[in-house]
Amino acid sequence: MSNKLIIANWKMNPASVEVAKEIITEINKESKHFGDVNLVVCPPFVYLNEVASVISNSKKIVLGAQDVFVGEGVSHTGEVGIKLLKKAGVEYVLIGHSERRELLDTDQIVKEKMIGALKEGFKVILCVGEKERNEHGDHYHEIKKQIEDAITKLPKKYIKNLIIAYEPVWAVGRTESEAIKPDQLHEISIFIKRLVSDICGPKEVDKIKILYGGSVTKNNAKEIFEKGNVDGLLVGRESLKVKNFTELIKQIKG
Ligand code: PGA
Repeated sequence: MSNKLIIANWKMNPASVEVAKEIITEINKESKHFGDVNLVVCPPFVYLNEVASVISNSKKIVLGAQDVFVGEGVSHTGEVGIKLLKKAGVEYVLIGHSERRELLDTDQIVKEKMIGALKEGFKVILCVGEKERNEHGDHYHEIKKQIEDAITKLPKKYIKNLIIAYEPVWAVGRTESEAIKPDQLHEISIFIKRLVSDICGPKEVDKIKILYGGSVTKNNAKEIFEKGNVDGLLVGRESLKVKNFTELIKQIKG
């Protein structure tokens, strides 16, 4: 549990493979200064090979995918399955990102993808988070349902490969001042840990890293990370701005 974890979620960026290579090359050069932070870069599928070739010798940066298809066989037009991701060198997969849930990924599909990926030895970043908050605290129910649906009856052997990324939808893709406040995050991380402990048992809870994502920038990362009681951060737009992003990582390293 010692190392901190940063996930770079590039979504559908950058606009060309040349720029993708430039970005990862620059990040890779800086990675000798990352200390106890490990970085997972999740580029669009079409850039996986190029990014993989730049980081192939890295001890600090590994490859992640933004989604995975876990059905049997090969006749699934438009999907990218587990075997293809493995061949490309992917080690981590993001599952249940709110932008995927918005499209079609129900809690059931999220669970299938998660189990399928864990069975094949991937590390899974399970994304959860409420759409909005109200004065009744309904967000606790929403987060609880997403986590319960995913990890209830999960065989214990997979728990060490599971990471939970809390990404409240209302904080994703906003301005840095609209990111979660550290004390709000602290509450949620305790809530998630308790929940995991109830579902999987108290011995398992320390094996799962908890991350926060949603409008993290170099200006708010340190405070969110240090006061939020999390093991790392999931960074979208800021992870494409090399200078800001590498500064962000250096700020949270030990
Ligand atoms: P953001 O994206 O950092 O640009 O808000 C985070 C995410 O969607 O994973």
